[in-house]
Amino acid sequence: MQRFETQEFPQAYAAAQETPEAFWLEEAKRLSWHRAPTLARSLSPEGIAAWFPDGRLNTSWLCLDAHVAAGHGDRTALIYDSPVTGQKAHFSFANLTERVARTAGSLRALGVGVGDRVVIYMPMIPEALIAMLACARLGAIHSVVFGGFAGRELAVRIDDAQPKVLLTASCGLEADRVIPYEPLVREALALASTPPAHCVVVQRPQAPMALTPGRDHPWDAFEAAGAPVDAVPLKATDPLYILYTSGTTGKPKGVVRDHGGHAVALAASMARVYDTGPGEVFWAASDVGWVVGHSYICYAPLLVGATTVLYEGKPVRTPDAGAFWRVIAEHGVKTFFAAPTAFRALRKEDPDATLRLKYDLSGFKRLMLAGERCDPPTLEWLQDRLQIPVVDHWWQTETGSPICALPAEAGWAPKVGSSGVPMPGYRLEVLNEAGDPVGPGKSGQLALALPLPPGTLPTVWGDQKRFREAYLARFPGYYDTGDGGYKDEDGYVFVMGRTDDVINVAGHRLATGELEEALAGHDAVAECAVVGTSDPDRGEVPVGFVVLKDGVNLTADAVVEALIARMRQEVGAFAFFRRGYVVARLPKTRSGKILRSVLRDLLEGRPPVVPSTIDDVKIVDEIADVLASGKTA
Ligand code: COA
Ligand code: AMP
Repeated sequence: MQRFETQEFPQAYAAAQETPEAFWLEEAKRLSWHRAPTLARSLSPEGIAAWFPDGRLNTSWLCLDAHVAAGHGDRTALIYDSPVTGQKAHFSFANLTERVARTAGSLRALGVGVGDRVVIYMPMIPEALIAMLACARLGAIHSVVFGGFAGRELAVRIDDAQPKVLLTASCGLEADRVIPYEPLVREALALASTPPAHCVVVQRPQAPMALTPGRDHPWDAFEAAGAPVDAVPLKATDPLYILYTSGTTGKPKGVVRDHGGHAVALAASMARVYDTGPGEVFWAASDVGWVVGHSYICYAPLLVGATTVLYEGKPVRTPDAGAFWRVIAEHGVKTFFAAPTAFRALRKEDPDATLRLKYDLSGFKRLMLAGERCDPPTLEWLQDRLQIPVVDHWWQTETGSPICALPAEAGWAPKVGSSGVPMPGYRLEVLNEAGDPVGPGKSGQLALALPLPPGTLPTVWGDQKRFREAYLARFPGYYDTGDGGYKDEDGYVFVMGRTDDVINVAGHRLATGELEEALAGHDAVAECAVVGTSDPDRGEVPVGFVVLKDGVNLTADAVVEALIARMRQEVGAFAFFRRGYVVARLPKTRSGKILRSVLRDLLEGRPPVVPSTIDDVKIVDEIADVLASGKTA
């Protein structure tokens, strides 16, 4: 794998601006293609790029077989560290290749081939990665659903992706309890209008699942029966996966990722941003259900021949706030990636991070933070305690790799509160409402000029119209990130938060519309609004406001309690919905649009900015009174 000399970054950035096609064809040489591309991209009339259209490759082959073929089969590809079960295991590239090839063989025997979808609903176990890589090997398109989602959310994703097979496990394990998947899977299959014909279940001893003969297969026998298959050469533009993410409505968007652009972007990021190469150890403490898990637990480390760590635990309580330092020291992690919220949780329990002193952290060189805005106190606390580069960087499910970061090469000083500078290929502008670029220091909407670089979404699964409307319509010629912020005089970018109805709860992206759907489904609710309010630990938490139907004979307390239970049941406990208010009316414009910003202002104790279009200004005082009464209901 090619590594760059000091100060390569400015040249790379300039080359990607000025001669993008030549630049990306050169970048593509980082990979061993089945057929190297001769064409960098083709562009749609709207300016959406299909990257490397005549190239052929297979991401699973690049992650696995390529390293075995290069004589590195004995190197460790994957370390599974699970404090919740007490298990640790190492998988070499050779061993992982063998397991993936067999699993792919068994999937093929169930009729899975190029372009077929497979949904993966799993906790943080090695089989989750084996499943992803097995799908990629066949050219099947995986869609991983975060294990914390409730059955209904799984059903929604199954109906959109229409998988032939569901790969799952019998349970997940939280710090203090077992989460049986059986009721969740059963509910999802019952709700889905097009349930998959087959389910393969990793049986875990903590809570085995009852299997339905004919439909369900135990993973061990399934994998063992597989005749190993070779990786299928695919078009670079073939989809590798669909990952559902929250948009502005209740229906999640299926972000599509291709094979070729994705692999090139990830390999480049490992060199330029994460400074991790062959034989080094990389750990992203996220979940396979999120984009960070896709890119930096599964694909990127393996693509470059590094070792990836799969951690089934928490920063605290498994068993203590020294867990991160223990894993870093024990496995020789060089670069570690986590969400700021995880460190806020850790800091609460170990304010001086003294537990780190128990461990040899001399091999730990770089800490990467993303998933939410990093509050300056957390960043400074980490810098002070660790004395290594602590890098806040910004990206989204849609981009798959960082939009902004601090280059790994020497000479790039971080600025507190900034997510660094745009990466090669990203032409970031700060736009005003009219779509005109504003100058340094001025806040606006963060938008990326089209075409986007390799690795970014080419479309929304099955819904090109939604892709256009959600991302391209607002500012012609740009992709709208949904985030607001500004650039300073030096070009450093400061991301201040979402400007749409997406909220970020402990690094988890949620649409308020999705949460509102869950509340609106309750019999007593006539209307509702969910807004995010700032929270010192989780960044944001959702708060609900509900108007009851006439004649509902329940106390407000009882309603709120029922809504909290319903949210856990319909969306999942991770949404952290714990606060709700019953109100007589919601603040709306005369045209009926709910004024969520007024609710947010009131919750955060700011004088509300009330637009002149409000239907009835008295509602603001009514709600302020409910909040002032201090009761949740
Ligand atoms: N399956 C089932 N339940 C889950 C779950 C999962 N995969 N993940 C979380 N939950 C549940 C928890 O058990 C908890 O349930 P409870 O209300 O009954 O106690 C609830 O959801 C809230 O969980 P969580 O937000 O994980 O809180 P926590 O206190 O257990 O952990 C953090 C706090 C900060 C450690 C955790 O939120 C975290 O790691 N966040 C980072 C997320 C991330 O990596 N994002 C990607 C960007 S890098
Ligand atoms: P997701 O698609 O789940 O990765 O969430 C992406 C969203 O998380 C972005 O649109 C931002 O709102 C937020 N985000 C991610 N990283 C950062 C960061 N470093 N600083 C500020 N916000 C971030």
